[in-house]
Amino acid sequence: MLSARKRVVLLELKQFKLERYFAKYEFSAKHLMSSSDCEPLALSYLLSLADTECRSLWQNLKLGYTYSDGHPLLRNEVAKLYEVTAPSDILTAVPEEGIFIALNCLLKKDDHVICTFPGYQSLYQLAENLGCEVSYWMPEEENGWKFNLDFLTQNIRPNTRLIITNFPHNPTGAMPDREDYARIQEIINRHKLWHFSDEMYRLMEYAPNTRLPAACDQSSRAISLGGLSKSFGLPGLRSGWLACRDKDMLSKMAGYKDYTTICGSATDEILSIIALRNKNTIVSDQMKQLNRNLKLLEGFMDRHKTNFSWVKPKAGSVCFPRLNKATSCMDFCHQILEKTGIMLLPSEVYDYGQSHFRIGFGRANFPEVLQAFENCLTGNPS
Ligand SMILES: Cc1ncc(COP(=O)(O)O)c(C=O)c1O
Repeated sequence: MLSARKRVVLLELKQFKLERYFAKYEFSAKHLMSSSDCEPLALSYLLSLADTECRSLWQNLKLGYTYSDGHPLLRNEVAKLYEVTAPSDILTAVPEEGIFIALNCLLKKDDHVICTFPGYQSLYQLAENLGCEVSYWMPEEENGWKFNLDFLTQNIRPNTRLIITNFPHNPTGAMPDREDYARIQEIINRHKLWHFSDEMYRLMEYAPNTRLPAACDQSSRAISLGGLSKSFGLPGLRSGWLACRDKDMLSKMAGYKDYTTICGSATDEILSIIALRNKNTIVSDQMKQLNRNLKLLEGFMDRHKTNFSWVKPKAGSVCFPRLNKATSCMDFCHQILEKTGIMLLPSEVYDYGQSHFRIGFGRANFPEVLQAFENCLTGNPS
């Protein structure tokens, strides 16, 4: 037993507002129009893509414990997404678990952290819970949701340890251009800081030549978070990874994982290998759907300028329009849900005022759901 002096105080985690909102409505709402993942793939379809090796791995799979750092073939496929990052630089984890592991390994009390905001709550909440002071780097809406680099330079302190970014950005769909991103990395490196780069929406750029280099390829003091939940439409696999070329940090994170899940799910690993070996087919199909849906959304936003203003996303499956009405977005989203069964996501769950809401446009039925939303706004019977 620990002595009173040594007793570890486990801080209570604040409620994860977005996840609680999804828990409440995701499976009761008739239509989803705020999800950040693309159309989920059917297991039978994924298996139909398996090559001979994967088919044999699947058919002969024994459901024992798996490699704690991830199946070697999986880490091999993940490493192909990067330029210099090698299979030995990869630790597999559920994406959300990856954030938990990395921030716990990177941070200690009284460290200062700069994190893009609004954002996926665990990215900054866990830092706060560890006793760190967090500065919130907010994009300028009037400037196309641009993250101004001056904020970064002006807010670095002697005790700044870590910069957390999420590009492409949830919920705005913002992404710096390559020049700005190179400057961000130059600032991080000049100050010898760590970079945690949440790249869950990478591969979903509308102009492929705007894709940013992965942070783990650019610096050994960077950790990239990747996964199959968004661009591949496989959130149910719970498959992701941390990529980091600093061996000490990677080993620390591997040790931390012994206290979370120990190892991945045996079935999910094989399915993830199949998905990654078919990346081009899967991601390009999802992008075709996203492009079609984004075009429809553009037309919709043009027709409803009095109700909404928006910035067209540069990448990803979500955007964050402003509601040009006196009502709070929480009320607006509840009204829409009640009238149409459509689930939207209010900015209140991001602790970002009450004027915005998130639209997710990655699903196959988006055209019909958008039409039902429009019918409700215009008073047309559906
Ligand atoms: C930016 C970002 N990071 C991490 C995650 C966590 O991914 P997962 O739900 O697959 O664990 C999400 C999920 O929405 C996300 O949007």
